[in-house]
Amino acid sequence: RSEKKDIYYEVNREAARFFYKALRFGDNPGLRYVAKRGLTKETLHEFGIGYADGEWNSLYNHLKSKGYDEKIMLKLGLISTSKGKYYDKFRNRVIFPIQNTAGKVIGFGGRAIGDDMPKYLNSQETPVFSKKNNLYGLNITKNYVNKEDCAILVEGYMDVISLYQGGVLNVSASLGTALTENQAKLLKRYTKNIVLSYDADNAGVTASIRGSEILYKEGCKVRILHISDGKDPDDFIKAKGKLAYYKLVDEAVDYGDYRIEHIKKKHDISTTRGRVDFLREIAVFLNTLSPVEADIYVKKVAQNYGISESALRLEMGQDAKAEE
Ligand code: GTP
Ligand code: MN
Ligand code: MN
Ligand code: MN
Ligand code: MN
Repeated sequence: RSEKKDIYYEVNREAARFFYKALRFGDNPGLRYVAKRGLTKETLHEFGIGYADGEWNSLYNHLKSKGYDEKIMLKLGLISTSKGKYYDKFRNRVIFPIQNTAGKVIGFGGRAIGDDMPKYLNSQETPVFSKKNNLYGLNITKNYVNKEDCAILVEGYMDVISLYQGGVLNVSASLGTALTENQAKLLKRYTKNIVLSYDADNAGVTASIRGSEILYKEGCKVRILHISDGKDPDDFIKAKGKLAYYKLVDEAVDYGDYRIEHIKKKHDISTTRGRVDFLREIAVFLNTLSPVEADIYVKKVAQNYGISESALRLEMGQDAKAEE
């Protein structure tokens, strides 16, 4: 821990406090927005959710009045400069402070209240913030993850917050990027059992494939949850409630089965050609599994798709004779 970093954490903390007060003080577009999305006062407090108003210098003026230097604000991506003037980066947005697992404020996510682009504006990489090394919400939820020996991993800020408010406490998000190796390692400090609960759209499926692969390679036990009637965990728990969500958690599919199902969708296995291509791709996938797991899935695939185990093992480059 360096002395130099302390000032960054301090200024971020002050910015978070400023945004939080702005949201909680009187009526404002930020408060109306989070109310519309169903967040309670307790949730706003727990996650320190805030509001950046539409003015150009609100945060800048506040931090100046506290005696902080522009250089630090710039470095933290809280302000920008143009033609010798400074202006706030986050304007007209609901603010989600991002904390590391030690509880330091390392950055911010800001959701547009109106139709402004981008929908989410995140802090740039700074001396205290690197997206690829942190997970949103884990500072609040790590004890629950630990206790349940299971983490539910989602895509977005609002997914974490809604699940948590809905009583699903062992949840965290990968900060809008594809899950990284370091994030997998971070999560593994608390549990090896991960349920991926990404959006039901194409981007979510792609992210599930990549994310589950990374977690598997890190030695986690991964399952993938599918939200059948569209949308994301936030929408789902608000519409159907906690018990319905837990049912989906129960039904979440093991990594191997998920990957095999996904490969199957790419081929027409009612044709000979399609079956051949399918089984070849399966063989390639099975080779990425641990020996014990590969063996289990070889038997399963052979049985389910009417192919001999020995042929499948040959396709995988294994010596079929050794199995006899
Ligand atoms: P809501 O519309 O508020 O419910 O957001 P969402 O979380 O459902 O958004 P979406 O599924 O589109 O994206 C998932 C996550 O990706 C978000 O929570 C953000 O972290 C990130 N993300 C979404 N849009 C943007 C964007 O425009 N820019 C960046 N940098 N990240 C984004
Ligand atoms: Mn408090
Ligand atoms: Mn999405
Ligand atoms: Mn959403
Ligand atoms: Mn979403």
